[in-house]
Amino acid sequence: MEKTIHVALETLIGTPSQRQARPEVHAKPHPSSRSPRSNERDAGTFFLETFGCQMNDHDSEKVAGVLVSRGYTQVQTPADASVILYNTCSIREKAAQKVFSRLGEFRGTSDAGKIIGVLGCVAQQEGENIFNRAPWVSLVCGSASYRKLPEMLDKLEAGDRRVTGLDNDTDETFETEITRRDNPFRAFLTIIEGCDKACSYCVVPFTRGPERSRASDSILREVRELAELGYSEVQLLGQTVNSYKDPTSSKMKFSELLLAVADVPGIRRVRFTTSHPRDFTPDIVAAIDAQPKLCDHVHLPVQSGSSEVLRAMARTYTREEYLERIALIRAVKREISITTDIIVGFPGETEEHFQETLRLLEEVRFDALFAFKYSPRPNTPSLAMNDPIPEEEKSRRLAVLQKVQSEIQSARHAKMIGQTMEVLVSGKSRRENRWSGHASSNRVLNFTSPHQDLLGTYVNVLVTDAGPASLIGEHVL
Ligand code: SAH
Ligand code: SF4
Ligand code: F3S
Repeated sequence: MEKTIHVALETLIGTPSQRQARPEVHAKPHPSSRSPRSNERDAGTFFLETFGCQMNDHDSEKVAGVLVSRGYTQVQTPADASVILYNTCSIREKAAQKVFSRLGEFRGTSDAGKIIGVLGCVAQQEGENIFNRAPWVSLVCGSASYRKLPEMLDKLEAGDRRVTGLDNDTDETFETEITRRDNPFRAFLTIIEGCDKACSYCVVPFTRGPERSRASDSILREVRELAELGYSEVQLLGQTVNSYKDPTSSKMKFSELLLAVADVPGIRRVRFTTSHPRDFTPDIVAAIDAQPKLCDHVHLPVQSGSSEVLRAMARTYTREEYLERIALIRAVKREISITTDIIVGFPGETEEHFQETLRLLEEVRFDALFAFKYSPRPNTPSLAMNDPIPEEEKSRRLAVLQKVQSEIQSARHAKMIGQTMEVLVSGKSRRENRWSGHASSNRVLNFTSPHQDLLGTYVNVLVTDAGPASLIGEHVL
C-alpha cells in the first residue's frame, strides 16, 4: 500500500489510505442519518462501496439518496444486493487498481442478473474500456453525469444490457432531493464541482470535468435544512473550494458564503476543503479571524517547496507566493492550523529541490501533512515528462519527509499539553469511558470521561499527553 502520512484524521480531500488511521470507535447513528422514507415501490437492494476523496464520499451519499427515493434498500454486502456499485478514485495508480480487483471477484461467478456499476473517476477515465475488462459490468458513469442516474437506472430496469454516462461538459451541479448522509456528526456539502486548474500531474480536471459552482441560495437552503435535522457542523467541499463563484445575481464571494453559512441558526462549526493557494485571498483569513464558528483550520496543499518544480507542476504560484499566504494566516489574532499535501519524486525533482521542500516544512511547521509518491496518470501532461525517478528513491524521499514532519508534529503537540480544547464528540471506544472527537483545528483528541451519551455533544477537553498523530486528554467537568 502506498505510504502516506496520516495525521489529521478524516478531514482532507484524498484517498482512503489517507483516512485509514481512524481511532477505534463505534459511532451510534444519529437520528438524522436514518434513511429517508422511500416511495412505496420495492425496487430491490443495492450495495455501494466508495473509494477516494470526501467529494466521492458525499457523491455516494447523494447516489444512495437517488436509489432510496426510487425504492431501493441499501445493504452491507454485495451478496445481498441486486445492484452493486463502486464509486471509484483514479488519483494514483494504486487507487485506480482497487476497483479492478473488486470487479475481478465477480469473474466466473453466477452473479448473472445483478446490475454491477462503476461510478466516479475511474469510470470517467476508462469509459467503455471497463466493459472490455469486466464484461459483467452494465453501468459506467462519471460524476459529471450523475444527474442522469435515474434515467440510466430506468433503462437498466427496462432490460438494457449496458448504459453509460460519460459526458464531461455539463454546466449542471449534482443536486438531489434526498441525500442519505452517513456521517451523523459532520454534514458534507459540495459547493463547487470539477476543476479548472490544470496541474500537470492530476487527473481531476479530466475525471470530474470543468468547474461548476452551486447557487448560494441553494447552498444556504440546504445548510438550514441540515441545522433543522440536528447537524451543527458542516463541511463545504470542492477540489478548489475557494475558487467558488456564485452563479446567482447575489454574486457572493467565497468568504461571504462562509460567513452566511456560519450565521445559520444551529450551525456551530463550518469547515471547508480543499483550498488552492492561488485563490486564497486575505478576505478568507479575515472571515475566519472574525467569526469563531469558522473552524481554525486551513488545508492548503503546497505540493513542493521548489518554485522550479511548482512551475513544472503548473501550480500557478511560487514558493515565495505560497509563503506569503502562510504569513497572512499567521498574522491574525486567531491561531489557525495549517495542513498540506506534498508530492515527492515528481519528474525532474532533484535532491536540491527535495531539500527545498524539507526546508519549507521546517519554515512553515505544518500541523499535518499528507505526502504521496508521484504516480504517472493517463491523460495528464506530466505523463509525457516520463518518470525518471526510481521507485526506491521516491520511497526514500517519502520516508525522510515523514520523519521530518513527525518530529515537527510531536514538538507542536507537546506544546499543547495543558491547553483546553472544545471537542465535538464523534466516537466511543469499546473501552469504558473512552471517547474521541475533533477540535476546531481538526486535531483528533482521544479522551476519558465518566459521562454517558456524549456522542454529538461539544465538551471541553484538557490535553494531558500528545503523540505525533493525536492528542490525549480528559473531559473537563
Ligand atoms: N484539489 C486538491 C487536491 C486534489 S488530489 C488540490 O489542488 O490541492 C489530493 C492530493 O493528491 C493532491 O493534493 C496531491 O498531493 C495528490 N496527487 C494528485 N495527483 C497525484 C499524482 N499523480 N501522483 C501523486 N499524488 C497525486
Ligand atoms: Fe488536481 Fe490541481 Fe485541480 Fe487540485 S487544483 S484537483 S491538484 S488539477
Ligand atoms: Fe477524488 Fe480520487 Fe476523483 S481523489 S476527485 S475520487 S480521482
